[in-house]
Amino acid sequence: MSVWVFGYGSLIWRPSFPFVEKRRAWIHGFARRLWQGSDDHRGVPGALGRVVTLVPVPEARCVGVAFLIADHEAEAVLAHLDHREKNGYQRHAVDLHDEGGVFARGTVFVADERNANFLGEASLDAIVDQVRRSRGPSGDNAEYVVELARALRALEAADDHIESIADALSSPYAILDA
Ligand code: BEZ
Repeated sequence: MSVWVFGYGSLIWRPSFPFVEKRRAWIHGFARRLWQGSDDHRGVPGALGRVVTLVPVPEARCVGVAFLIADHEAEAVLAHLDHREKNGYQRHAVDLHDEGGVFARGTVFVADERNANFLGEASLDAIVDQVRRSRGPSGDNAEYVVELARALRALEAADDHIESIADALSSPYAILDA
């Protein structure tokens, strides 16, 4: 069976798997937050970076990209994502929405507060400071946040939480504060 995967983070600009269709989509009841610690992509063990996860917020809507994976590739793609996102993320089934309403049931990867690398809420200054200092095998944590902000703006889906952190990272004063 073909499957839809919903991307709300780096999958938006770097899906790294084959798909037959992609479209702007959203899910209800979740907000995107830089609350998950990364020790394998944008940080290292002992110096975690911050990457996005979804947190339940009943009135929220999270806009991203839905990818349709062909039947014969679905199993391999999901296994690839399980491995790529092995650091605390688990598959969840969600309704995918577009302008026409719910168009499919899809899979989304969520790292909740029960995983060992969950960092949770912190002040804007603390998040910016951590992001600015962190880097891992996939590159600088700041680059991740700035790329995500850019990708969301391109989708006409700027996200206040991500924007505020990307703005602070790009501030000319950032280098003086570091
Ligand atoms: C994503 O880019 O949508 C994504 C975020 C976290 C884990 C897996 C996928």
